[in-house]
Parts: sequence; structure tokens; C-alpha cells
Amino acid sequence: MTETVIRRIEGEEMLEIMHWLPSYAFRSSPPLADKEERQERLRQRVGNLFFAVFEDGAPVACVESTPLTQNLRGRLFSAGGILDVATHPAARRKGYAREALKRLYAALHEDGRVFSDLWPFRESFYERLGYVTLPMPRKAIFKPSALTPLLTRDLGGSVQMMLIGDGFDIYLDYVRKLQATIHGMALFEHADRFNAQRNNYWLALAQVDDEIVGAMLYDLRGEQITQFTMGVRRFYYSTSQGKYLLLAWIARHVDQANRVEMWLPPYEYAETWLEDMQIAVEAAPIAPMGRVLDVAKMGGMSTGPGRFAAHISDITCPWNAGIWQFETADGKLHVNRAERADCELTIQALAALAYGTHDPGEFAMRGWGNPSPQVQQAMRSMFPRLVPHVHEQF
Ligand SMILES: CC(C)(COP(=O)(O)OP(=O)(O)OC[C@H]1O[C@@H](n2cnc3c(N)ncnc32)[C@H](O)[C@@H]1OP(=O)(O)O)[C@@H](O)C(=O)NCCC(=O)NCCS
Repeated sequence: MTETVIRRIEGEEMLEIMHWLPSYAFRSSPPLADKEERQERLRQRVGNLFFAVFEDGAPVACVESTPLTQNLRGRLFSAGGILDVATHPAARRKGYAREALKRLYAALHEDGRVFSDLWPFRESFYERLGYVTLPMPRKAIFKPSALTPLLTRDLGGSVQMMLIGDGFDIYLDYVRKLQATIHGMALFEHADRFNAQRNNYWLALAQVDDEIVGAMLYDLRGEQITQFTMGVRRFYYSTSQGKYLLLAWIARHVDQANRVEMWLPPYEYAETWLEDMQIAVEAAPIAPMGRVLDVAKMGGMSTGPGRFAAHISDITCPWNAGIWQFETADGKLHVNRAERADCELTIQALAALAYGTHDPGEFAMRGWGNPSPQVQQAMRSMFPRLVPHVHEQF
């Protein structure tokens, strides 16, 4: 009989296993991804947890988590990002990925992580594990000439540019400040300096009176001069002046680039920024997903008035199962164990409320619970709809 063991892996053993299985699963091959480079990246990952499944001593599946902080309804929580979930083709469909993830969730729970996020290969696989789908980032495509009217306006302030490797600390400091204001925004606890030092992006910083009011990461690529594509990877601002200073910076590239491809958080509507932009919008190939890892620690987010109690089911994270009361006091959510429930809810429904992505009227349609119309009203009052933006991709 095959002996199956699931355990945490570290050090050299982790470097071997986390090179082979994810490289095979996520990169074109043969050959496998460059081992030295992959292992150097793995060494840079501070605080990540790795679990593997072994069949008779041979590694056949792996999972990984990365520590995040995440803003949910105005409070910063500890969260766990899930990545590198891979099973050897010979060992697939035996429940190994699911069991390894369960072990990882238990470890994340012990570590005080309250939410979990990921970028799925297939949503249904992770929905069964308790996640709900969140809105996708979007790519706005337009000509830089659409923004040239901004060049004749006096916007004040200034824009400075540098390589991301040189400006990384300033960028990080700015993004961390913004995180407090952006629902859903998840940031690596340990920033990815390794990637930044590759200098794949220019950093443009909009400044007014020595204060940074906008930050944009971009590159210019293409075969033919004057016909480059300006790829905007990040576009953040804290004031309207910051936003339009960065847009005017794009307009200054009208002689170099004839196309802008700009990745935007799902709450942005680029078509409203200026008239005649003639924008085409494409969605990302995958949408992020989010999950509640620890119901008991969800309190403290800003919620509207109301109260309800629910019997929560969660077969993947059994510590969440049971009856919980959700109540707003002084504008903040309080969560406590309770005796009597007003309805049944799956853990997916609770994520849908916290992230703000689904109306409680949908829960019965999705198999996520049975709140009565009255309880649905309490839920709508407490958890109004929001558009979360995850930010980090992993
Ligand atoms: C996706 C992958 C990790 C699944 O690993 P696995 O060990 O075969 O998965 P499990 O056997 O634990 O499956 C768990 C559940 O998901 C289901 N499932 C497995 N593969 C699935 C798929 N491709 N699509 C939808 N459901 C799937 C299983 O039937 C099982 O269902 P159950 O809970 O009803 O029993 C594996 O196929 C793989 O390595 N694929 C290539 C890499 C990849 O895409 N990884 C995911 C990155 S986010």
C-alpha cells in the first residue's frame, strides 16, 4: 500500500521540490525553468510557508503561501496569499492538492491570518475550497494623443522619473499609505525587492509641494520607433491633480508611442477621464478570489447598522463552523459565538459579504445559504456592495 505523508518543507528540500513541480506546472517546458534563478527567487521569499505531499517518500504535490496585509472595509488584516499549487500528473485527482491546502490553511490560521487571496487557474476548484470570485483588473487601451489636450493646461506640480529599482522605497512607502484607503488592497508583508531590482519598469512620481500625489509604473516596448506601446502596469493617485499629472506624462510620449495599454483597478472608469478618448477595455485573463480564514477575527472592519446570527459551514477550515453573531457597534463589526442562528450560510457567503461583491439575495441561487428577506436587509445595511482591488499578483 502507498504511504502518503503531508508535511511542511523548508531549506534545501523545499528548494528542490518548489523548483520542479511548479516549474513543470506553470512554465512552458522542456526545458524546465532555470533552476538557479528560480531557487534564488524562492530564497528571497521571507515568511512564505511550503507544504508537500509525499507518496512513499517521493514528492508529488506542493502548495505555498505568502504573507500579506489586506484592507477589508477600512481595517488592515493579516492575510495569506496562495500560490504554486501543483500536483505531479501521475498523482492528480487523488485529493492531494486539497489536503495539502487544508494543512496550509491550518498553519495560516495558527499564524493569525484572517483572509486568504489567490489568482486561480480555475475558479470552481477554489470555490469548493471556500473562495468567492472578485472583480477583474481591466486594461484600458487608447492612443496617447487622446491625452494631448492636457498638455496645454497648467496642472501645477511636477513629475519625476526614475527606474523602479532606484525608486522602490519611495514607491513602496506611497503604496502602503494608499492601502489604508483602498478596499481589498493586499500588499506583500515583505516587498518583492528582487523583482524591482530587475528594473523592468520606469517609475513616474507626481509631486506637489514635495508631497507625492501619484505613482505610475510603465515601460515602452516595440519594434519600431515612434510606434511603441506604453504599457502602464500600475496607476495610483491620491489627488485629482496627481491623476492628471500622470495622464499628462503619458501625453508627453505621443511621439514615441502610438498605443497605451494601461492596467487599472476594477473601480476605475478610464472612459470618463477626458472626452474622445476612444477607449477599448479588456478584462484580465483571470479574476482574483478571496476567502475568510478566521471568522472569529473578522471584527473591526467598518460596517453599517445591523445584526444577524448565522450558522456557518466550512468543511475546509472547521474552526469557522458553528453559530456566529455579526453585529455593528460604533460603526465597527463585532463577531461572537452565539446560541441561535437566523439562517444558514456557507463560508463563501461570508466572504461575499466582507469583500462586498455579491448581494445576499444571490446566496440561495448559489447554494451559499438561506437568509430570509429580513436578514438580507440587515446584511445589505451592514455590508454595502464594494469593489475590492487586490493589487498584488502572485
Ligand atoms: C490543479 C491541480 C493542482 C489539482 O491537483 P490535484 O491534486 O489533482 O487536486 P485534488 O485531487 O486535490 O482535487 C480537489 C478537488 O478539485 C477537483 N479538481 C481537480 N482538478 C480540477 C480541475 N482541473 N478543475 C476543476 N476541479 C478540479 C477534484 O475533482 C477534487 O474534487 P472533490 O473535492 O469534489 O473531490 C493539478 O491538476 C495541477 O497541478 N495542475 C496544473 C497546475 C495548476 O493549474 N495549478 C493550480 C494553480 S492555481
